Amino acid sequence: MRFPIAFAACLLGAAGLAAAQGPDGEGVYQKVCARCHATGEYGSPKLGDTAAWTPRFHEGVDHLLDQAINGLGAMPPRGGVDDLGDADLRAAIVFMLHASGLQAR
Ligand code: HEC
Repeated sequence: MRFPIAFAACLLGAAGLAAAQGPDGEGVYQKVCARCHATGEYGSPKLGDTAAWTPRFHEGVDHLLDQAINGLGAMPPRGGVDDLGDADLRAAIVFMLHASGLQAR
């Protein structure tokens, strides 16, 4: 009876891999978000600054995505790139949270 379980785990692993090949959060971050978030420019929460990201993280990724879509304070909507899709934005947010030690999905 072990074999089917191993097979199911393998399928799950493949699904996980497919999800990981979705939007490139780090790439979007480097291209669009880093110009502020790498340095904390304009008072933005800086990449890797766990203390700055923790209270935002607790508001939930959906909320952060909303703020990034619409813009917040000195941050322009979609980081200033109008045709940046929601999935790319979300991946960049999750990347920044991970890089700041927060386990977002
Ligand atoms: C022009 C500078 C700038 C760029 C480019 C920029 N941001 Fe920001 N971002 C800010 C600033 C400033 C804040 C803090 C806003 C505030 O709290 O008033 C912020 C805050 C945030 C927050 C927290 C929102 C909240 O609810 O507290 C998220 C999430 C975020 N940015 C995501 C992104 C993503 C993703 C990108 C790239 C696609 C990006 N930002 C590009 C300046 C920028």
